[in-house]
Amino acid sequence: MGIIVAIDGPAGAGKSSVAKAVARQTGMTFVDTGAIYRALAFSARQNDVDFDDEKGLAQLTENLPIRFQNTENEQKLFLGDDEVTHAIRAPEVSEWASKVSQYPLVRAGLLNLQRRLGEGPDGAVAEGRDIGTVVFPHAEVKIFLTADPQARAKRRVAQLAEKGIQITVEEILNEMKVRDERDSQRATAPLVKADDAVEIDSTQVTMDQVISQIIQLVHNCKNASVEAVHG
Ligand code: DC
Repeated sequence: MGIIVAIDGPAGAGKSSVAKAVARQTGMTFVDTGAIYRALAFSARQNDVDFDDEKGLAQLTENLPIRFQNTENEQKLFLGDDEVTHAIRAPEVSEWASKVSQYPLVRAGLLNLQRRLGEGPDGAVAEGRDIGTVVFPHAEVKIFLTADPQARAKRRVAQLAEKGIQITVEEILNEMKVRDERDSQRATAPLVKADDAVEIDSTQVTMDQVISQIIQLVHNCKNASVEAVHG
């Protein structure tokens, strides 16, 4: 198994863009765990499973026909034969994903899938809320990426605008506040900084600076393991 870089943090801190870029530049696999919770929520809505029906959601989790496909420009996501790459990014799906992800049975049901995706020989950059604490507690590099709410909301608005979704900064601020509170306060695997994570605040620095900093940590980690082997 290659090395694991775990990137956790609140909504809109830039985890996806940063994780994608680090993965691309280091040849590691990108694992977007939020997309898995989004796909589950999307499937629940399609199959009329209630967001507070933990057992029904757990059953859906067991048979979730989810598949990632890497193309040159993006990672596509399929549910069965349907491509849902863009559909799962709609703001209402963020809210649904945050709701279904509260349940211990759902989280347990998705754990192996997340671990399997990160298992390859090239190593993985995995991002989410509980990667450094639960999914990969032994990750070699752990990052807790934050930014102030206004900066996060502005970034999210710009990202959604690129996808043709119009929404105001105020609406997103509100949505993120509710979601971050729910994600941080749930009993199982809440959003919390792992004790051994490096905290990076991206409010005042560019995403390129954050990416370079993380790649440097990856190199340090690889060099340290080479030195350990060769004495
Ligand atoms: O990262 P994202 O915005 O795509 O995540 C959507 C929701 O999924 C998030 O609000 C909470 C949930 N999630 C989670 O509980 N654990 C993860 N590792 C990733 C996402």
